[in-house]
Amino acid sequence: MSDSKIIVALDYPTMASAISLANQLDPDRCKVKVGKELFTCSGPQVIEKLTAKGFDVFLDLKYHDIPNTVAKACQVAADLGVWMINVHTLGGQDMMIAAREAISNKPQRPLLIGVTLLTSMTEETFQKIGLVGTIESAVIKLADLAHKSGLDGVVCSPLETKLLRTKHTKNFQLVTPGIRPANSKGDDQHRIMTPLQAIEAGSNYLVIGRPITNATNPMQALEAIEKTLR
Ligand code: C5P
Repeated sequence: MSDSKIIVALDYPTMASAISLANQLDPDRCKVKVGKELFTCSGPQVIEKLTAKGFDVFLDLKYHDIPNTVAKACQVAADLGVWMINVHTLGGQDMMIAAREAISNKPQRPLLIGVTLLTSMTEETFQKIGLVGTIESAVIKLADLAHKSGLDGVVCSPLETKLLRTKHTKNFQLVTPGIRPANSKGDDQHRIMTPLQAIEAGSNYLVIGRPITNATNPMQALEAIEKTLR
């Protein structure tokens, strides 16, 4: 298993394009993330191919349903041999506990991570759906609930990392998207940090997509990011 902190988001509409990008990366130097788009078009076959190449795979499907349904989904996801899976913390504590119990007997169980609030959420959309308090207070509460439910960590914005790290030890994994190397395009990400800033704030893993996948030479882009972390 690679000890890299970088998870490359394989956001592609076909298995062929995802595998073509993966072929340009070294599985000892990064992990990969398969999200809803790629999994919906390729199914478990893409996981098989990536794990056969030696990649640790984060299956990012953000399960959110009744406890029994989420538990069963986590069980079969774990059987695919992935390294990390996730659920949505807004599904509540019973759902998170059911997910955790469903995979606890697996010989090599994946890390189970909770999504707190999506980083795309603004204070306005937060208020509109009837949630009270602030985004920050909700993220703290949801991360605490995830921790109490036995989850291994949460996905959070790099801007929330520092605060969450004051409340949880390094064993509680903080997985952060919204990462942009200095001088690179922000794309549609707004609340961003550089890889080094995010690691210094307490992130365990950095989810990075377009700065690597859109590069002319993805491995070179990955190496440039690694260099900033040394
Ligand atoms: O290309 P980019 O680096 O922006 O990709 C970020 C990845 O992280 C995408 O796969 C996106 O879906 C995911 N993500 C995110 N914000 C979240 C959760 C996941 O950007 N809150």
